[in-house]
Amino acid sequence: MIVHGLLLTDPARQPDEGWLAIDGGRIVEMGHGAPREKAQLGSARSIITPGFIDAHIHLPQINAIGCDGMELMEWLDRVIYPAEMRWKDEAVAIQESATAYQRMLRAGTLGFAAFLTSHFHAYVAVVRVAHQLPLRAIVGQVMKDRHAPPELLGHDLNRLASSERGRVISSVNPRYAVACSEDILRLAASRARTLEGGAIIHTHLAESALEVRRVRELFPDDEHYAGVYDRHGLLTPRTLLAHGIHLSRDEWQLIATRQAVIVHCPTANTFLRSGVFDLNAAREHGVRLALGSDIAAGPDIAMPRVARAMIEASKMRAMTGARHVHVPTPDEAWSMITRGNADGLGGNDAGRLEVGASGDVLVLEPAFDVDEHLIGRLL
Ligand code: GUN
Ligand code: ZN
Repeated sequence: MIVHGLLLTDPARQPDEGWLAIDGGRIVEMGHGAPREKAQLGSARSIITPGFIDAHIHLPQINAIGCDGMELMEWLDRVIYPAEMRWKDEAVAIQESATAYQRMLRAGTLGFAAFLTSHFHAYVAVVRVAHQLPLRAIVGQVMKDRHAPPELLGHDLNRLASSERGRVISSVNPRYAVACSEDILRLAASRARTLEGGAIIHTHLAESALEVRRVRELFPDDEHYAGVYDRHGLLTPRTLLAHGIHLSRDEWQLIATRQAVIVHCPTANTFLRSGVFDLNAAREHGVRLALGSDIAAGPDIAMPRVARAMIEASKMRAMTGARHVHVPTPDEAWSMITRGNADGLGGNDAGRLEVGASGDVLVLEPAFDVDEHLIGRLL
């Protein structure tokens, strides 16, 4: 297939007219100007961008968006665990994951890293549905063994799958330290090690102040929250840590040393009033960053909206007295939801327009003229 338009190969530069040839799901050829043969998609006015990637989403929470007024742990107990319990019924899991996939596709999200529930049958069903769609997916059964309803305490863990199969990859997802005993953290680490190169580990870290206090009570011998994961070998270059709002300097340093990825979820942090992410600290410590919708704590599935929320959060910090705040530019934000998130999820053949990269691209038809504000207008 030939795709024609203004190619957003680098959001920091004005895009040039060009074309892509896509075959077998890959970009096999690229050229400048109009294509030699008629394009199947696009025109000289279209904008071609890599599809968006969401580095942190909970598929079983797709119908739980908007339940406001609670702190993280109360919200988990009252809203989220009841919603996730419904996935015991495989039909519900199939239906709700299909809804989530449809909404992502409609919003231009073509790749994601997701939490499911602890139900094995739901996991199998969701993976089956994902295989039928044009999506790159990293999905993990939730691992947890305390502080949740008994129905959600990971009774299917012995069957947790950890195989890689094409576009749908399994990850190891201990929920967060509050809901995980020493045993289950150890099991998560050993599961992750069974894959060559290590499986992707996906968890939450230091989202709310109350959560951090609970972790201190539950793991009194550890220096800090990140240290709990590190002691179990869970901080690796393949680890995704959602949030990272309440971190000490030592924790930033440790995360940087382990080359783990913090997934910033700005819409979720505002919704649950968990705190304002310190983008400067992440940059100063050289911590790898990705961006996530964190549905349902984050109310918006569209990654451009999440990218805007990141910019807004930095502007708020700057306007309310924080000094030397780096406010990301629109093109930095666009890079994060495409190439940056692909790199964070270990898929450096995605999120970019290059020969050999995945052919997961979007063809946008803007209603405005292209000028130097293109990316800001798109966001
Ligand atoms: N921490 C542990 N579980 C969750 C979850 O489902 N959502 C969010 N936002 N934080 C969590
Ligand atoms: Zn989350």
